[in-house]
Amino acid sequence: DERELEASFERTIAHNDRIEPRDWMPDAYRNSLIRQIAQHAHSEIIGMQPEANWITRAPSLRRKAILLAKVQDEAGHGLYLYSACETLGVSRDDLTRRLIEGRQKYSSIFNYPTLSYADVGTIGWLVDGAAICNQVPLCRTSYGPYGRAMIRICKEESFHQRQGYELLTTMMRGTDEQRALVQESVDRFWWPALMMFGPSDEQSANTEQSMAWGIKRHTNDELRQRFVDMTVPQAQALGVTLPDPDLVWNEERGAYDFGTPDWDEFWAVVKGDGPCNAQRVAHRRRAWDEGAWVREAATAFAASQQTSEVR
Ligand code: 3HC
Repeated sequence: DERELEASFERTIAHNDRIEPRDWMPDAYRNSLIRQIAQHAHSEIIGMQPEANWITRAPSLRRKAILLAKVQDEAGHGLYLYSACETLGVSRDDLTRRLIEGRQKYSSIFNYPTLSYADVGTIGWLVDGAAICNQVPLCRTSYGPYGRAMIRICKEESFHQRQGYELLTTMMRGTDEQRALVQESVDRFWWPALMMFGPSDEQSANTEQSMAWGIKRHTNDELRQRFVDMTVPQAQALGVTLPDPDLVWNEERGAYDFGTPDWDEFWAVVKGDGPCNAQRVAHRRRAWDEGAWVREAATAFAASQQTSEVR
C-alpha cells in the first residue's frame, strides 16, 4: 500500500541509492525533478546561441572546428537531459512549448551577449567551469537517469573548460590588444558566472527539500564557494584580475572571501529582463517552428514503417 511504498522510497533516499523510473515516488519529488532537469536541458540548448555567434568568425579553422564540436556537444547534452526528463512522464514537445511560452526557465548566464571572440574562451573557462562544479555532484543525484546523463556530460564539459582556458592562455601570450580583450571579457562574465549557482541559500526556495531528497548534494553557496576557490588561482596563472575588490584569501576559513552578487540583476534576468532574453527565446521559437516539417516527416515515416511491418 501507499505507506509501504513511501517507506521504501524514504529508505532508498536514506541509503543514497537510486530512484529509477519504475519506482514509486512522491509527486512533489517527480515535479521538482521535471522542473530542474527540464531547466538544465533548456540551458544546454539555449546555450548554443551565444557561442554559435562566433562560429563563422573564428580566427582559424582549428578554432572553428573546436567551437563547432563544443556547440554540437551542448545539443547532445540537451538531448540526454530531455531523454532523462521524459522518463518522468513528460514529452520534449511539451517541455519545449513551456520554454517558448516562458513557463520554464533556463540558466541566466545565456542571457548575456558574446561581444568579442575572447568570450568564447571565457565561456569555456568560467561558464563551463561553473557548470562542472555544479554537475559533478549531480552525478550522484538520487534520480538514476539524471545522474547517469551527468557522468557523460561531465566528461565532455571538461574538454569544454580546457579548450576555453587554452584559448585565453594563447591570447594572453599575444598582443596588448588581445590581453585587453581577455580582461574585458572576464570583467563582463565573472559575476554572471557566480549567479549560475542560484540565489544565496537563504533565498533558495528549493535547496532544503532538494538536499533532503538527495537531488542536490551541496547547497548553492557551497558550490559557488568551491568554484571561486578553484578559479582564483587559474586567473592568477592566466594573468587576469577578477572584478571583485572584496576577493581576498581568508586563512582562517581556508577559502576566499568575496563580494555579493547583484541579486537585483540576477532576479531581473531570471524573470526575463536580461540583455538577451527576448532574442534567445525568439530564436528558439523560430527554430522550433521552422523544424516542424522535419518532425512531421519523421512521424509520418515512422507510421508508414509500422503499417508496412503490420501488412
Ligand atoms: N538561472 C535561471 N534560473 C535560476 C538560476 C539561474 N542561474 N538559479 C536559480 N534559478 C531559479 C530556480 O530554477 C528557482 O526557480 P523555480 O523554482 O521556478 O525553478 C529559483 O530560481 C530559486 O532557485 P533555487 O536555488 O531554489 O532553485 P534550485 O534548487 O533548482 O537551484 C540550480 C538552482 C542550482 C541552477 C539547480 O536548478 C541546478 O543545479 N540545476 C541543474 C544545473 C543547471 O541547470 N545548470 C545550468 C548551467 S548551464 C549548463 O550546464 C550548460 C553548460 O554547457 C555550460
